Amino acid sequence: MPAPLSPDQPMSQTPIAALVLAAGKSTRMKSKTPKTLHKLLGKPIIHFLLEAVQEAGVERTILVVGHQADAVKELVGPEYEYVLQEEQLGTGHAVIMAEPLLGDWKGAVLVVPGDAPLITAGVLRELIQRHTSSAAAATVLTAVLDDAGSYGRIVRNASADSIVGIVEAKDATSEELKIQEINTSVYLFNSVALFSALKSIRPANAQGEYYLTDVVGHFVREGLIVDALVSSDPDIGRGINTRVEMVELSAILRDRVQRELMLSGVTIVDPATTHIDAGVQIGQDTIIQPFTILSGVTDIGEDCEIGPGARITDSKIGNGVSIKDSFVVASEVGDGTRIGPFANLRPGSTVGRNVKIGDFIELKGTDIADNVSVGHFAYLGDASVGSGTNVGAGVITCNWDGAVKSKTIIGSNVFLGSNTTLVAPVSVGDGSFTAAGSVITENVPEDALAIGRARQINKEEWAVRKRAERPNRH
Ligand code: UD1
Ligand code: CA
Repeated sequence: MPAPLSPDQPMSQTPIAALVLAAGKSTRMKSKTPKTLHKLLGKPIIHFLLEAVQEAGVERTILVVGHQADAVKELVGPEYEYVLQEEQLGTGHAVIMAEPLLGDWKGAVLVVPGDAPLITAGVLRELIQRHTSSAAAATVLTAVLDDAGSYGRIVRNASADSIVGIVEAKDATSEELKIQEINTSVYLFNSVALFSALKSIRPANAQGEYYLTDVVGHFVREGLIVDALVSSDPDIGRGINTRVEMVELSAILRDRVQRELMLSGVTIVDPATTHIDAGVQIGQDTIIQPFTILSGVTDIGEDCEIGPGARITDSKIGNGVSIKDSFVVASEVGDGTRIGPFANLRPGSTVGRNVKIGDFIELKGTDIADNVSVGHFAYLGDASVGSGTNVGAGVITCNWDGAVKSKTIIGSNVFLGSNTTLVAPVSVGDGSFTAAGSVITENVPEDALAIGRARQINKEEWAVRKRAERPNRH
């Protein structure tokens, strides 16, 4: 009996080569950066497509690059194949450029546009399944929109059961413009038929371009079968041509990411004021309060309360953590720790378990062990703090002398009195105390009390004498 297919395995014997079109000039974006490199939810648009294609299970992935090819290649990396389309003469021309790589490809070619980040691995798998189990020479992914706008229209025969061709909005008659079924620009083609048909397409259209869409009409005229998969999600093929569309799609992706998190057991109290980047991990029963931004490579554990007003980037947060009105950047926070309000964890900080980081605390490049309390108004930079230590209000590490950064080493079970100033490099031994207001310039041994401040003098009756000298003042 054959083993059941896992979702990662290609679903058919037909090998699939993906061709991602990313050479266009992105004229309508009015940007110096190619549109496929603009970010949505922290991720370059092209990565959404590449991930979907990889996950769908293809044998090869080739990118057609042209406009700012080097920038695209640098971002995407050497693990993909590339072909250069020096002049951007249209989507059909872009595919022709891949003929040297795919001319003798025996399988199918999956074409995806580089600018449609809502395409999912799931719909690609469905398309592959449908194409490879039919006799079609092409299978087009289509969607039905209320307002088909500038998308290419799917023209069907009178009984609407088969596709006759695709007409671009700019070339469409007013009747054709009323068609609501659109071309998503995602297709599967029989490779041999595709490259053969491309030889006969001509740029005789409103844009003077070689349209890939013309291949569909050509196939039909040649008597080949063209099939369509109509997506149940009307947004699936939406492309980004302008920055307005970029924001619209960003909102859709944001909802999708938040929905998936909610369905996996995360409470998002106010999705409208919450921004979560694609790829952020959040554990079960964690509550995300309003006005929270979670970005980059961030992983948050279970049973946390994040926000209101938390901004966490590239950080790893344990279980049962609370972070209110605070920043955490490129740092790690252990289980059961409470942070904020108004704390700023700058890059390179590691905070242990059951720690309290209170209000107006700044940490930079600092390691804090378990069960430490840093309650109020403190700056710890390039420091390490041992377990069970209490850092009093207003404690400051002086880690920068204008030329070099130096370290402050604070042991375990230390009591740093309020307003202790630690002039680095300096260390405070385990179990020792510093007196409030001390300026610590020398190492403190274990279990000592360090006092580094002027002794207080009370000048008795001083004020009385002063008032007698100047009777009109208090
Ligand atoms: C294309 C389709 C249209 C479809 C729409 C869906 C054609 C002629 N039209 O239109 O039917 O509804 O996508 O989003 O195919 N590209 C190149 N080289 C080129 C031109 C484009 O690589 O010479 C790339 C672009 O970078 C982009 C993709 O192909 O990633 C689509 O090109 P774009 O100009 O956005 O096509 P649309 O006008 O949106
Ligand atoms: Ca487009």
